[in-house]
Amino acid sequence: MILITGASSGLGAALAKCYSDDNQQVIISGRNTRRLDAIAQALGANTCAITADLTSDASVSALFDQVEQAQQKQQVQQAPSRLHTVIHCAGSGYFGAIETQNPAAIAELLQNNIMSAIMLVREAVKRYRDQAVNVVVVMSTAAQSAKAGESTYCAAKWAVRGFIESVRLELKGSPMKIIAVYPGGMDTGFWPTSGKALDTSSFMSALEAADMLKHALVSTQHGYVADITINRA
Ligand SMILES: NC(=O)c1ccc[n+]([C@@H]2O[C@H](COP(=O)([O-])OP(=O)(O)OC[C@H]3O[C@@H](n4cnc5c(N)ncnc54)[C@H](OP(=O)(O)O)[C@@H]3O)[C@@H](O)[C@H]2O)c1
Repeated sequence: MILITGASSGLGAALAKCYSDDNQQVIISGRNTRRLDAIAQALGANTCAITADLTSDASVSALFDQVEQAQQKQQVQQAPSRLHTVIHCAGSGYFGAIETQNPAAIAELLQNNIMSAIMLVREAVKRYRDQAVNVVVVMSTAAQSAKAGESTYCAAKWAVRGFIESVRLELKGSPMKIIAVYPGGMDTGFWPTSGKALDTSSFMSALEAADMLKHALVSTQHGYVADITINRA
C-alpha cells in the first residue's frame, strides 16, 4: 500500500495513476475532497481518497489512522497490503521579487511546504520507524540552488531539505528510509496557483515526471536510491 500526498492534482495525481495501473493499493490525499474523489473514482477500486490538511498535526494523525483502518480492512478481505511507501508531493508555490511579496502569502507558502513536510514525516517516524517504510519527500531543484524571484520558495524547500537530512541521521540503522526528490519544472496546476505567469508548455508533464520517479525508486536487500534529481531537458 502506498500513501501519496498532494494527489488531488499534478505530480501526486500522476503518481497515483502510475501505481494504480501497476495494481498497487493507493491512498491519495489532499485538501480538496471533490478533486480527490474524482481522481479515486477514475482510478478504480484499488484507490481510496482521504482528505487532510497537512499543516495540522491533528489532520495528519487522522490521515494515518485512516490509512491503518484501510490496511485492517484489507486484511479482513484476505488481500493484505502493508503500507510500504509514503510519497509526499504536497506543496505550493509563491514567487516574485522579495519586496513585492505579501506577508500572508509568504506564511501560507511556508505552511504548505515546511509545516506539511515536518508534520507528515514526524507522524510517519512516530508510527513506523521500526518498519521498512520508505518516505519519499518531493522538494524541488529550488532546494539545490538559489533562484532570483524565488527567494521564499527556495527558503521553504531548503528548509525541508535541512529537515529531512537531519531526520535521516536520526533514522540511522532504522529500516525506515527517507528518499529525497528534486524535480525541475513540471507543467502542472502549480504554476497558475502560484500566481506566476509562465509558458510551461516545454516543461515535463506530470505523467512524465511520475513515470521517471517511479522507475528511480528502487531498492535491493542491502541498498536503496536515496536522492533523485529530475531535470527538465
Ligand atoms: N510544478 C513544478 O514545476 C514543480 C517543480 C519542482 C517542484 N515542485 C514541487 O512538487 C510538488 C508537487 O507539485 P505539483 O506541480 O504537482 O503541484 P500541484 O499540481 O499544485 O499539486 C500540489 C498538491 O499539494 C496539495 N497541497 C498543497 N498544500 C497542502 C496542504 N496544506 N495540505 C495538504 N495538501 C496540500 C494540493 O492539494 P489541495 O489543494 O487539494 O490541498 C495539490 O494536490 C510540490 O511540492 C512542488 O513544490 C513542483
